[in-house]
Amino acid sequence: MTELRPETRTVHLPRPSLNGSRPIAVPIYQTSGFAFEDPAVFAEGMNRPDGAFVYGRLSNPTVRSLEEAVAGLEGGAGAVATASGMGAINSVLLGLLKPGDHMIAQKPLYGGTAAMLNDLASRFGIEVSYVPEDDPEALRAAVRPESRLVYLETIANPVTQVADLPGMCAAAREAGLVSVVDNTFASPVLCRPIEHGADIVVHSTTKYLSGHTDVLGGVAVFASEELYRKVWHFAVELGATADPFAAWLTLRGMQTLPLRMERHCANTRELALRLDNHPAVVAVHWPGLPSHPSHALARKLLPDFGGVFSFDLVGGRAAGEKFMSSVRLALLAPSLGGVETLVLHPATTSHRSLTPEELARHGIGEGTVRVAVGIEHIEDLWDDFSQALS
Ligand SMILES: Cc1ncc(COP(=O)(O)O)c(C=O)c1O
Repeated sequence: MTELRPETRTVHLPRPSLNGSRPIAVPIYQTSGFAFEDPAVFAEGMNRPDGAFVYGRLSNPTVRSLEEAVAGLEGGAGAVATASGMGAINSVLLGLLKPGDHMIAQKPLYGGTAAMLNDLASRFGIEVSYVPEDDPEALRAAVRPESRLVYLETIANPVTQVADLPGMCAAAREAGLVSVVDNTFASPVLCRPIEHGADIVVHSTTKYLSGHTDVLGGVAVFASEELYRKVWHFAVELGATADPFAAWLTLRGMQTLPLRMERHCANTRELALRLDNHPAVVAVHWPGLPSHPSHALARKLLPDFGGVFSFDLVGGRAAGEKFMSSVRLALLAPSLGGVETLVLHPATTSHRSLTPEELARHGIGEGTVRVAVGIEHIEDLWDDFSQALS
């Protein structure tokens, strides 16, 4: 069979085989352990991420279905599902780095990751240098003899800068560094970073992959078997692996990922265009707009431009706050990637740890509003935004 497309892969998930048949929906294997007849099979299962099921922290059939499904979607050799996106990010960073190592990360970065990288430097003796997300030359210049890893995000929060994945991953490879890409905002429907040279892809599955704001989870996908085995061992030691019910909810949501992404992107395009032409709005930040600094790169890398954008209102912070307290349908809430539209104020929530200078450098104003667009009817969303703007 030819390579399956995401629309088909997410419907036909890896289903465990029973005695001569297969369940159509992946079942929840709600057990913490498994019993054996053969001690040798038991022993072998302890050492492999893809062997016999032994103990829930090592693996579980529901969790493995999720891992195989995401590895298939991302084009990886294997995947490790974790209890949260930060569980995946930390399993990768702490599993591959040791004191004395150096890593290079893009800025801007998701706030939780930025806080973790500060901790790596201050508590684990792992130094971090920062470079812009689209500057392979700056990456080359930042490489040191003790450099080990490069950390990127396909689309960054909240101003949605797009990383130059081919250029940055090639520069990392030339220097012998492992490249890690957080693909949460794009999802594998819009981007598969391994095709652009990434070694590891991480997701907060809490967002688009699960898609219904009802479960926390993460996943790390590996281009090579070697990295897969290494990080799996560490995630098991750390106790970061996913539980079967969370994996089941994620699989359940993932079956409609391509359909949902289509609507997230279409609604976002419409809202971004209408706001861009609204007299109360100073600027809209979305890579689908020609005015966005990443527009040209985004057109090369992505088939569509994602479901998150931000905008600034005439009247700055006061106007932004008034808007957020005036929406009636959209919810004032953290996170993204669920079916419902959410708004938040990055300067006091997701990006509160940044100094005013850093906020300005990342294009985040005092009054910037971030919108994670849901899959509601566009005219209901626009009615809500219009009444809040007026
Ligand atoms: C881009 C990105 N990566 C990682 C995370 C962390 O994921 P989780 O909250 O599932 O730990 C988030 C959460 O907002 C995120 O937006």
